[in-house]
Amino acid sequence: MALSDFERYPLTFGASPVHPLDNLTKHLGGARIWAKREDVNSGLAFGGNKTRKLEYIVPDVLASGADTIVSIGGYQSNHTRQVAAVAAHLGLKARLVQERWVDWDDPVNDKVGNIELSRIMGADVRLDSAGFDIGIRSSWEEAMEDVRANGGTPYPIPAGASEHKLGGLGFANWAHEVAEQEKELGVFFDTIVVCTVTGSTHAGMIAGFAALEDAGGRKRKVIGIDASATIDKTRDQVGRIAANTAELIELGRELRDDEITILEGWAGDYYGIPVESTVNAIRTAASLEGFITDPVYEGKSMAGLIDLVKSGEIGKDSNVLYAHLGGQLALNAYSSIFD
Ligand SMILES: Cc1ncc(COP(=O)(O)O)c(C=O)c1O
Repeated sequence: MALSDFERYPLTFGASPVHPLDNLTKHLGGARIWAKREDVNSGLAFGGNKTRKLEYIVPDVLASGADTIVSIGGYQSNHTRQVAAVAAHLGLKARLVQERWVDWDDPVNDKVGNIELSRIMGADVRLDSAGFDIGIRSSWEEAMEDVRANGGTPYPIPAGASEHKLGGLGFANWAHEVAEQEKELGVFFDTIVVCTVTGSTHAGMIAGFAALEDAGGRKRKVIGIDASATIDKTRDQVGRIAANTAELIELGRELRDDEITILEGWAGDYYGIPVESTVNAIRTAASLEGFITDPVYEGKSMAGLIDLVKSGEIGKDSNVLYAHLGGQLALNAYSSIFD
């Protein structure tokens, strides 16, 4: 099936906006920086990258006849907040396993931001003391059993919607959206920078841009910046999901190694714990542009972008598209950094 043959249930406003970051560009003195904004892409509880992924998963949810979406993430998961919003929008229940993925000593970590919104939207939020892991978890499988035992029909969506068979399609389509926006703007983005953790955002882009290249498009580089701090698992997951997505959209060939780039160096030692480069990047983008990034994800990919431009690894003539994937609500649980 071609990508356009997959059913897409609209949850976003349409194409997410693209705009230049001229002050940041001037500050870095190098490549021209632009942003594409998944953080303002939907009216459903502030949207984000998962909302775009869920557009391709919702038709399968509805066809399954399920009444409860079961998903999982950390206490401050953006993903589970977006699942809660989509479930509310569809008139379904959400059962959310929220694990202690981050050893972050903030007294309101399990109360404010994303988790607060999920509770407000009526999700059944259950805290679990397990630590960070992007793989399939027993607590999530137990939650499904529990829903069944109580007479419900669960629909499973794994962490980040990544290990779902359709999880990569949303960002494969993002690539096509970029190509359309390039025509309107008269620009070619030779470099894309994206934060990667559970993998299907980056993986979807890889498959989507590979298809565009095979259709005669120019070659470009998609740089994933790891924020998981478990780089081997993330590399494995991105590679696997990119290959699955490429197969789903009938790319008709294997992905090349040079199409899969994940850089480490900005995650720090732990997922969810900001390091000096994260905080500096958050302050830089915010003070120059009013461009708000978070300490878990986008602050880390912004730190990567800044260093790659400063070091010249991204050349002066480049047009760089920074994928802003959302995540700002978690800032509420990190106020001490900016005291
Ligand atoms: C704001 C934000 N940025 C980046 C990511 C990473 O995306 P993915 O998990 O698809 O790699 C996530 C989710 O994990 C996120 O919520």
